[in-house]
Amino acid sequence: MPKPRIIIALDYPGAEAAKALLEQLDPARCRVKVGKELFTAAGPAFVSKLVQQGFDVFLDLKFHDIPNTVAKACQAAAELGVWMLNVHALGGGRMLAAAREAIDSSSHQPLLIAVTILTSMGPEELEQIGLTGDAGEHVRRLTSLAQEAGMDGVVCSPREVAMLRKHIGPSFKLVTPGIRPKGAAAGDQIRMMTPAEAVAAGSDYLVIGRPITQQPDPMAALAAIENEIG
Ligand code: C5P
Repeated sequence: MPKPRIIIALDYPGAEAAKALLEQLDPARCRVKVGKELFTAAGPAFVSKLVQQGFDVFLDLKFHDIPNTVAKACQAAAELGVWMLNVHALGGGRMLAAAREAIDSSSHQPLLIAVTILTSMGPEELEQIGLTGDAGEHVRRLTSLAQEAGMDGVVCSPREVAMLRKHIGPSFKLVTPGIRPKGAAAGDQIRMMTPAEAVAAGSDYLVIGRPITQQPDPMAALAAIENEIG
């Protein structure tokens, strides 16, 4: 069975709230993402427990700080046994290099991914922080920076995948949230694609939250998405 492309975003307020879904999930069928909300509420022990249960865990804490602090945080995350973790490319080349070095010297080496530009930011907000012009151009430049600094991939909008693939090799991972099966509620996502479209464009991993977690039958929703991407 091929390793799953689907990463389910466990966007829950605590361990108890995540339990009902986790009890139904098979680690051979999907990976899981723990973000700031669940991590802050449930802590590193909860992450370790998921790892012990056999889940590939994407620890989505988007580190962005001075190089030394980010390096130490990456090392601590690696020691939890997670499969993937991320940092902000906007932290700069030295910060990214420090994160790379920290992971390389850890006994367990998760995939190290950079966030380029948050998909929630539109042109006006980008301009407020001095990022004028085409957002896609900033994403492309930050992706090159991430690649040069030795990241294993980037988080990006599925709509940026085809453009980025032209600039990077096939092994550089493209991780895409903003996935909505046909007919699903958009919620706060703006630049979306269906699961099949994202895979066809070249996305390696699909981060999916509400279209699975908020459905009356999450396992049926997962099965439908698996069927769609084949
Ligand atoms: O519920 P939904 O499918 O929109 O969840 C998407 C997940 O991906 C959320 O956990 C969200 O925080 C995360 N994410 C995102 N956009 C980014 C980075 C992460 O939607 N640029």
